Amino acid sequence: MESENVQKKVVMTAAQPTGKLHLGNYLGAIKNWGQMIEDYECYFGIVDMHAITIPYVPADLKRNVYDCAAQYMACGLDPQKCNLFLQSMVKGHAELAWILGCICPIGSLERMTQYKDKAKKHKDALNSGLLYYPVLMASDILIYNADLVPVGEDQKQHLELTRDLAQKFNNMYSPTFKLPEPYIPKSGARIMSLQSPDSKMSKSDPNQNGTLYITDEPSVLQKKIMSAVTDSDSSVRYDVQNKPGVSNLMSIMAAFTQKTYGQIEDEFSGKGYGDFKKAVAEVVIESLAPVRQSYKDYSSDKAMIEDAIKKGSQAATRRTTKMMAKVYRKVGFLNFEK
Ligand code: TYM
Repeated sequence: MESENVQKKVVMTAAQPTGKLHLGNYLGAIKNWGQMIEDYECYFGIVDMHAITIPYVPADLKRNVYDCAAQYMACGLDPQKCNLFLQSMVKGHAELAWILGCICPIGSLERMTQYKDKAKKHKDALNSGLLYYPVLMASDILIYNADLVPVGEDQKQHLELTRDLAQKFNNMYSPTFKLPEPYIPKSGARIMSLQSPDSKMSKSDPNQNGTLYITDEPSVLQKKIMSAVTDSDSSVRYDVQNKPGVSNLMSIMAAFTQKTYGQIEDEFSGKGYGDFKKAVAEVVIESLAPVRQSYKDYSSDKAMIEDAIKKGSQAATRRTTKMMAKVYRKVGFLNFEK
C-alpha cells in the first residue's frame, strides 16, 4: 500500500490495547484518523509495548489487541486504505527508542504529566518502562518520519518531547527526522468523565458510569448520559470553569454535529438539562450505531483481523527498516551487510 502513496504526506498515530475504546478515544482521535485515510499515507498502531508499562494480564492483552483492531475497523479504518500495525511486530520501534533514550535527559521524562499521574496510581508497581514510555512514543512517530500526528490534548506534551528529541538528534548527527506536527481537533480533544468532569474520560475511571464506550448498548449510553453530573443552575451555557459537566456534554455534541457552542446555547435556551441530555444521548446513540453494528461483524472474524494486522505490520516494517538503517549508520554502528 505504501508504494502507491509515495507522494502523500505520512500520518502516524496509535492507541493502547487496554480494553474498550471510549468516547474520548473516538472524538479526540480515531474519528479524525478515519477522515485522513483518503489523503495521507497512514500508519495506525496498536501499541502493545506501551500497554505493558502498567500491571496487566498477558491473556487479556492478546484479546485486547484483537478487540482494538476490530474497533479500529468499525470506526472506518479500512485496512485496504491504511496500515494497521501491531507495535511489537515492527522491530524498529524498540530499537530506535533505545537510541533516543540515550539522548533524552531523565529530567524531561520525570516532568511528564502522564507519568506523574500514572506513577501516583501505580506507586506499588512502578517500573522504569513507565518513565521511558514517552521515548518509545517518540520512536513510534519518528521512525515513520511522520508529517502529522492526530491525537487528543493529553498527548500534546509527549508530542513536544518527540519534536525536541528529533531536533536534538538532527543537531547531533545531521538532519534525519522531520519535526512532526500534532493535529489536535477543535472540539472533542479533551472529553471529560461524565461523573467527575474535572478529570478526563478514561478506561481506568473507578466510576464506570462516567465513561461512555463506543460499543456500549444504546440503553447503557442513554442511562450514563442522563445521569451525567451537571450543576444547580439550569442554563445550557459553555463555561468550563463554572459549568464543567454541561460544557463537557456540549463539547460531545459539538464534536458529533459540528455545531458551535453558540448554536447549541441558542437551541437549548429556555430548556432544562433534561431536554439537553436527551438530545445529547440521541446524537451519541445515532452516531455510534454504525460503529456498534460493524464492530459486531468485525470482532467475529478473527482471520480477517489477523490478515489486516499482518499486512499492516509488514508495510510498517518495510517503511521503518530504511529509517533504522539510516539511524544506525549515523550513530556509528557497523553494518557488514551492505
Ligand atoms: P491512548 O491509548 O490513551 O488514547 C488513544 C487516543 O485517544 C486520545 N484520548 C482522548 N481524547 C480526548 N479525550 C479523552 N478523554 C481522551 N483520552 C484519550 C489520546 O490523546 C490518543 O490520541 N500514548 C498514547 C498512545 C501512543 C501514541 C503513539 C499516540 C503510543 N505511541 C504515537 C500517537 C503517536 C496513548 O496512551 O493513547
